[in-house]
Amino acid sequence: MAMDKARLHYLVTVVVIACGSIPKGYDEGGFAGAKNLESFLLDFGLTKEQWTGSSSALASRKANISSFGVLGAAIGAIMILCVADRLGRLRSWQLSTGVWMAGFLMTTFASGNTGLLLFSRIFGGLGAGGLTVVAPLYLSEIAPARSRGMIVSIYMVILLSFLMLGFFISYAAGQAMAPTRAQYQIVIGIALVPVGLAFIASFFLQDTPRWLASQDRNEEASAVLAQLRGRDATDPLVLKELEDMHAEMRDKRATLAGTSTWSIAKEIATIPTFRKRFLLGLAMQTVAQWSGGNGITYYIPEIFGYAGIPDSNQSLIASGAYGAVKLVFTMVFTWGLVDVFGRRRCFIAGLLLQCVTHIYMAIYMAEWINSGNGPASDAAIASIFIYAVGWSIGLCTVQYLYGTEIYPTRIRNVCYATNMMVHWFFQFGVVRVTPNMFDSLDIWGAYVFWACVCAVGLVLLGLWAPETKGVPMERMTELFDGPWYMGWKARVRLDSDAESLDGPVYTETKTDNEKSEARSHSS
Ligand SMILES: *[C@@H]1O[C@H](CO)[C@@H](O)[C@H](O)[C@H]1NC(C)=O
Repeated sequence: MAMDKARLHYLVTVVVIACGSIPKGYDEGGFAGAKNLESFLLDFGLTKEQWTGSSSALASRKANISSFGVLGAAIGAIMILCVADRLGRLRSWQLSTGVWMAGFLMTTFASGNTGLLLFSRIFGGLGAGGLTVVAPLYLSEIAPARSRGMIVSIYMVILLSFLMLGFFISYAAGQAMAPTRAQYQIVIGIALVPVGLAFIASFFLQDTPRWLASQDRNEEASAVLAQLRGRDATDPLVLKELEDMHAEMRDKRATLAGTSTWSIAKEIATIPTFRKRFLLGLAMQTVAQWSGGNGITYYIPEIFGYAGIPDSNQSLIASGAYGAVKLVFTMVFTWGLVDVFGRRRCFIAGLLLQCVTHIYMAIYMAEWINSGNGPASDAAIASIFIYAVGWSIGLCTVQYLYGTEIYPTRIRNVCYATNMMVHWFFQFGVVRVTPNMFDSLDIWGAYVFWACVCAVGLVLLGLWAPETKGVPMERMTELFDGPWYMGWKARVRLDSDAESLDGPVYTETKTDNEKSEARSHSS
């Protein structure tokens, strides 16, 4: 019985903290749906009839409304990265959640005031962005090493579920309610309920054992860990986990002893193997975001409209189904595909699918849009779903996997922070320019642009990114010994598959860093 209660405590902790993904998920689903509801457009003067300026100015205004949330998130993610160690994981989570709720409440009641709407988008975004850093961090710190990936992916499941739900809720409100202010207010405001409940529940949780230990609050750390595992603080398993945790922290401290962020940055710039890995991460992130990436999701209801679904409510259903496809394929990818087929096959197949669907959409938008060509339109709708599959099995998640695999501890934090910044500012860029690209490049031009990015990405990453599946952490450096364009051939000679060696022969150069790296990952 006591065991069950402990399980429940652990489960509740995971779910409450993972609810920190709702702000981002709901922004990409619920807000993306609500901003197309007639009531919203009317209230903020965004219908073609109300708008007196040019069509490109209208596109810019709409782009601002969507993208300012992402801009806020970019800033919020960086700010929380700076304070998460000082404030603690739980307080950072609560701070971010509180800020997001205040911002989203303002968005809900902006009531036709565009200035307030834009301000509230940035303000809420600050919290949503902070949560994307601190919620996975908290989860990875309370999960036992062997189920870490699984626990962190609960965050992903909740995010994508709320993305999908957001579109369906917009649809339901569009069907069932008159286009008055209350219609979009309900769609936006409803997300405050689950997040508010998680916020209240969070006051019954404690900070992570690892953070407590890092603050030399060892008694608390051991008590919290014992409670999470449902065991006694003197239980050998708890003691072992604490000991591993301390060893890992000591290693990390020793690795980073006396170095500043600046000197790490200099090392990344000057040591070829660090530089190559750092730039690879950056290249993946850049290709991922500019291939259309998640930026497109904000405009999925409109895109279904262009693809030939005339009724804006119907296109919300299709958008919800798009969210469901993303959810299913992201899970299939993280929970299997990527370890069966390897990282390279997955992202190459994903990019290829993205590229092909972009090309078809470019042709459709140039030739058949508004032509009433049924089969062409059906194929366009199908291709949006195929795009979702390609994105989900490829660069949607694979670069984060590389991020956890290819960097040694010494440079990991700096690489992670830079990567996050690039992610957010490029996602902001895509969300900001997409409506203007649709407006000034006649839609098809935007697809040509994205298709080109995918094609360049296929060649660049196809040559550069080595296969990391099954490569032990301490051997990772061998994959980056050759010139960057030979990455596709790089192999590590493992005793178990000596005959499969066809790459250049590498000598083993194990540094202290990588030894400690290996230890921290084998725990
Ligand atoms: C969008 O935001 C930018 C940056 O704040 C601003 O310069 C521009 O005037 C805005 N455009 C519209 C149409 O609101």
